[in-house]
Amino acid sequence: MQTTAIAHSNIALLKYWGKQDGPGNRPATPSLSITLDALTTTTTVEDAHADALRLNGCAIRDAKIERTLAEWRRDCAIGPLAISSRNNFPTAAGLASSASGFAALATAIDAHCGLRLSAGERSAMARRGSASAARSIHGGFVALAAPNWRGAQVLAPDAWPLAVVVAITASEPKAVSSTAGMERSKATSPYFGAWTEAASADFEILKAAITHRDFDALAELAEASCLKMHALMLSSRPPLIYWHGATVECLRTLRELRAGGCRVFGTVDAGPQVKAVCERQDVEQVEAALQDVPGVESTLRSGLGGGARVTDS
Ligand code: PMV
Repeated sequence: MQTTAIAHSNIALLKYWGKQDGPGNRPATPSLSITLDALTTTTTVEDAHADALRLNGCAIRDAKIERTLAEWRRDCAIGPLAISSRNNFPTAAGLASSASGFAALATAIDAHCGLRLSAGERSAMARRGSASAARSIHGGFVALAAPNWRGAQVLAPDAWPLAVVVAITASEPKAVSSTAGMERSKATSPYFGAWTEAASADFEILKAAITHRDFDALAELAEASCLKMHALMLSSRPPLIYWHGATVECLRTLRELRAGGCRVFGTVDAGPQVKAVCERQDVEQVEAALQDVPGVESTLRSGLGGGARVTDS
């Protein structure tokens, strides 16, 4: 018997960077994201004699997945599993493969092992693997905040159907994982205290921009959150420079488009890719402009997607 689940990647509009001390993999700051319909992880689980993992068709060992499975097993009856996972986009290059990956895995295991978890409980389960995965349990616009640090939908995908163009500037895995990078920033960036102090107010303002569907406010606040997070990264020691030249050039191009009246803004996570968020009528203009930026290898287009779900059991 096997069970398959699918989950979509998400990108943060309000970024989280840094974890709380103690167990549970709780973020130090709240975040808000959009779930992307075109970027998916599909995961199949099957009973086995011992755990085995395949990613994109290849047998692998993954310390983070092994550690997360061990944590889940402390709370839930989960037997040994053969897990096979497939991403339809480059893995570990700043496209949130761990978000869709752990959301799909938690959803498949919940159904396969008859755990009967609520969406909130599944979100907390996914968070143990990767905090951003807590958001991929839900579709549309999603918040991850205190006190329970479970993802919660703010707006459904069709309530404000924005579009996203991802500009891929490099497809190799990133040099410093987000967990290691966050630890480094927390320990060494002189700006870390200022980042956490402003986080609750930033969260409320950006959440209000989403509920009011105020694109101009969203653009300004999301861009500011992204650049503030990269200021933390750049001020860490040794510095975390996830950007390539083409990353900066894409951001500049998007700011020029916006100055010309196009409703678009850019955001960048722990990798060199740029995600342009825009209104649907502008998506072709945005994609064409990004394709013209030297160093952009390819582009992907997406709308907003739904939550993680079982597709076959
Ligand atoms: O939870 P992780 O390990 O996938 O880290 C996510 C970090 C960022 O993507 C940079 C920001 C975010 O909130 O998604």
